[in-house]
Amino acid sequence: MKYRRLGKSNLRVSVIGMGTWQFGGEWGKDFKQDEVDQMFDAAREEGINLIDTAECYGDHTSESFIGNAIQRDRANWIVATKFGHKFHGHMNRTDERSATHVAQQVEDSLKALKTDYIDLFQYHSIRYEEFTNDELTALLQKLLKSGKIRHLGNSISGQTRKNVNQVDESSARGVEAIQVIYNRLDRTPEEAVFGSCQKQNLGVLARVPLASGFLSGKYKLGSSFGRNDVRAGQDRATIDAKLWEVEEIRRREVPAGAEMAQWALAWCLLHPAVTAVIPGCKDVAQVKSNARAGGLEMISNDHPQAWK
Ligand SMILES: NC(=O)c1ccc[n+]([C@@H]2O[C@H](COP(=O)([O-])OP(=O)(O)OC[C@H]3O[C@@H](n4cnc5c(N)ncnc54)[C@H](OP(=O)(O)O)[C@@H]3O)[C@@H](O)[C@H]2O)c1
Repeated sequence: MKYRRLGKSNLRVSVIGMGTWQFGGEWGKDFKQDEVDQMFDAAREEGINLIDTAECYGDHTSESFIGNAIQRDRANWIVATKFGHKFHGHMNRTDERSATHVAQQVEDSLKALKTDYIDLFQYHSIRYEEFTNDELTALLQKLLKSGKIRHLGNSISGQTRKNVNQVDESSARGVEAIQVIYNRLDRTPEEAVFGSCQKQNLGVLARVPLASGFLSGKYKLGSSFGRNDVRAGQDRATIDAKLWEVEEIRRREVPAGAEMAQWALAWCLLHPAVTAVIPGCKDVAQVKSNARAGGLEMISNDHPQAWK
């Protein structure tokens, strides 16, 4: 595993982190603490120290699993969570972004995580007028001062281009890290926000690095997802278009013998703006496989076959 400094913060994160939206139960699988514990044991063995979660992956459910799993060695982990929603049920949450709401959310997250501090507290897909709410900014500064949160991040919504202003104003609002969708199928951040991140020396967490699992290469044309899997919401044409593109990429870019999921993660890490990737994991095997992408090095995007 390799480690990098997250922007200008004092956080030293593994280049492969672990995304945990999955623990909330919206990916066609319900988790039990036992399995989550085993996944964290695998993460420990592989050197992963960065965990991404959120208030609305279940009603603080993902945070709760994590809190139990890391209670004994909390100080070894960098826990990134988020604020701004209330979870009501499967793919059903409402926006709650006032300072009063966030003051309550941070307490609920601390309780679920069984900790007295959050390493990286991230805005969760919020709008510009919410990002620039001075009352909320004041609350976040107070939380920083109290030590309940150690650093501020901004997980910008999937409409990357709409969030350029927020990214540009990061340093002015005390934000040290940006979380953004970045993968081989969606390179929008390269021209939309990475320049600004580099100029401000912000940490960058590349989320959805496997394009929701499509870049694992295991899905074939005609594949479909179960009813309680977030991906079931996509129409047939969208799914098939992605699968065609993935097949082309595999044929043209992925070195023979390489695991496509590992290649896809190493590909993201090649961009100099990217600090770490946070693939969502559903079992021990995925944690281990993804972690090992942290030891791979691609020489160049233009020569994807050349890697060691
Ligand atoms: N707004 C936000 O802030 C926001 C939004 C989205 C995500 N996130 C964060 O980013 C994380 C990552 O994004 P994501 O989970 O949506 O997408 P992702 O990381 O691109 O894909 C995750 C899915 O890929 C499959 N997978 C993972 N590792 C694999 C492996 N080694 N081999 C084969 N398949 C593998 C798993 O699903 P299957 O095995 O079922 O295919 C897994 O559920 C999330 O967990 C969450 O922490 C944040």
